[in-house]
Amino acid sequence: MLDTAKWISCGKQGVECPTFSYSFKNDRNIKSAVLTITSAGVYEAKLNGKRVGDFYMAPGWTDYKFRLQVQSYDITDMLCGDNSISVVVGTGWWNCLGIARARCPELPVMLLAEIELTYADGRTVVIGTDSSWKTTDSAIRYADMYNGETYDANFEDHTELPTVEMDFPKHQLIPQQGEKIIFHERLKPAAVFTTPKGERVIDFGQEITGIIELKLNAKKGDVVAMDCAEMLDKDGNVYNENYRSAKCTITYICADGEQTWHPALTFYGFRYLRLLDNSIDITADNITAIAVYSDIKQTGRLNCGVPKLNRLFDNIFWSQKDNFLDVPTDCPQRDERLGWTGDAEVFVKTACYNFDVKRFFTKWLDDMMVDQRENGGIPHTVPDVLNKIEDQIIGTSCAWADAATICPWEIYLHYGDKELLRHHFPMMKKWVDCVCKITKTPNIWTGSFHFGDWLSMDENTNKDLLATAYHAYSTELVCKAGKVLGEDVSEYEALYARIVENFRSTFPVYNTQAECVVALRFGLAADPEAVAKKLVELVHEREDTLSTGFPTTHYLLYALSENGYTDLAYTLLLQEKFPSWLFSVNQGATTIWEHWDGFKEDGTFWSASMNSFNHYSFGSVAEWVYEVAAGIQRVETAPAFEEIRIHPHPDRRLGWLDVTEKTAKGDIRVKWSYNDTDIKNTASEVRYEITVPCKAELVLDGKTICVEAGTWMF
Ligand code: BGC
Repeated sequence: MLDTAKWISCGKQGVECPTFSYSFKNDRNIKSAVLTITSAGVYEAKLNGKRVGDFYMAPGWTDYKFRLQVQSYDITDMLCGDNSISVVVGTGWWNCLGIARARCPELPVMLLAEIELTYADGRTVVIGTDSSWKTTDSAIRYADMYNGETYDANFEDHTELPTVEMDFPKHQLIPQQGEKIIFHERLKPAAVFTTPKGERVIDFGQEITGIIELKLNAKKGDVVAMDCAEMLDKDGNVYNENYRSAKCTITYICADGEQTWHPALTFYGFRYLRLLDNSIDITADNITAIAVYSDIKQTGRLNCGVPKLNRLFDNIFWSQKDNFLDVPTDCPQRDERLGWTGDAEVFVKTACYNFDVKRFFTKWLDDMMVDQRENGGIPHTVPDVLNKIEDQIIGTSCAWADAATICPWEIYLHYGDKELLRHHFPMMKKWVDCVCKITKTPNIWTGSFHFGDWLSMDENTNKDLLATAYHAYSTELVCKAGKVLGEDVSEYEALYARIVENFRSTFPVYNTQAECVVALRFGLAADPEAVAKKLVELVHEREDTLSTGFPTTHYLLYALSENGYTDLAYTLLLQEKFPSWLFSVNQGATTIWEHWDGFKEDGTFWSASMNSFNHYSFGSVAEWVYEVAAGIQRVETAPAFEEIRIHPHPDRRLGWLDVTEKTAKGDIRVKWSYNDTDIKNTASEVRYEITVPCKAELVLDGKTICVEAGTWMF
């Protein structure tokens, strides 16, 4: 791939976003033309002034040492007589990011591209990047992942700069594997107003990840400068201290007359924009926000009779879209935006129900495979950009590193691709083996660094207990996956039995909600009935609120409903008191917050040091709504909904629920509603309307019914 092309860079220091260009004539009859391209950095390619393709932030994000995606575009129809290709390259994800940034050497951005022309007579000519390509500075004066973009529409310096051929490897090149990142929703401002501080602010009414498009009639030299925010403070002023060092600015220096512009090499997580320069008054007519994320297609829909829950569901979908840019990230705004494995692990099942993420996760799990440590450890973030930070090298935090087993298994259950599971199976095993090697106590897991029940409301969860529970679960998944693949997993089965036994003898008592939850959900509790009772007590002690963190929240409602406390699970789902899902909805959230109390009742914020308002992790509650409330269940022995089991758990407090899941076999739709929405009327009956694309087993009010494809009412 790209054999004739040479890596090129700009030989002049300080040029932020160089443009590399080449001109060629169509003097004979060209039958087809293909551009094959990648970059060290992110690129935007234009042929004869027109953008090539719709991939934004190409070539996407991988661990560039090992994998770098290459895109191919058919450009035949874009050719004319005299052609000029120009490619602007900015830093993007190229140089080290976020909290690891200070420790990385700066490397120049580079381009590698080929245009293959096939003539009518069958002859082909390949134009590869080399020192004959022209390098110039560009109108993009600055572009960076965290700080934003500055564009000067009047920039006209065509001085040729040295084009340097770089001795840089190509062994890491791979064909485009993930979903490309493209433009999606276009949002007009919901309001433009002046804050008490006198700042002009544009509110899009929804937090998104993306860019803005300006449409202006301006004078040459007018400046539009803005920065971003997710929140207003209690006085109605812009709050963006939580972006930390990420400046997230947009600066556009206007040309004369009518013009349309959007950034090309950056993205922002924002709901609000604050005007920093008032030389132009921006109105709703001038500006549009464009959501930017991987091209994942929605497969799930959740709707119910409680408007606040519907807002929560919307927030979950938005946080997924906002954090699925080639890599599942923690957040899209502050100086981080990294592929934290723990966040992806807790959210993966919800992600699968909401959108078709098979291709997206396949690519990211391949990123994980190449980043797996020699000892089997899994780095906290994939791509592994923290490896320069010494205490992060080991990569063994439970629930984070367990992404190596949980994600492949969830992808298998949802999409049923055995070969894909086989491909990731060595990584799964190696991770479990790693824990066996590093633990200080055989058959449980002690002595390692863990994030613990991250961001929970209860500090007391025993990290070794949590780690051992996750170790048991990962081992169980290796056994299950091995059996699907026909592998001998007897050693892992024996290991699993030993972990369960030792878990029970070492951790017989569960003192926090999280401890009860993992003991129940992973089938480790010796006396599940007693542990479930304890969990209920712990929830009641907190006035029916939860106290769980990232690794345990998505299991909490299951731990209750699987043990006879569905009613209490619904109480938690519908809880509005802090901490709860609906607390954030009442506080105006349009995405899922990182902290249960990101923006508190008294109008103050959690510390700016770590307070994202767009973190999907706690949105993982949606999986319970699909699987328990609506009852759409995947059958392990027949994945990808090859067999369907529907077991809804209605609750009159919702009034009605309407859930759809698009599967490869067709749509599954479960609707239930109460004929009387008065929650005091316990005699009111439930009406079910269930659509299945093939044979299915329905469990309704304790009765099992087998039905053929079709819509059924009960
Ligand atoms: C991220 C999290 C992540 C965590 C590790 C944070 O800074 O935003 O979502 O999982 O670090 O504990």
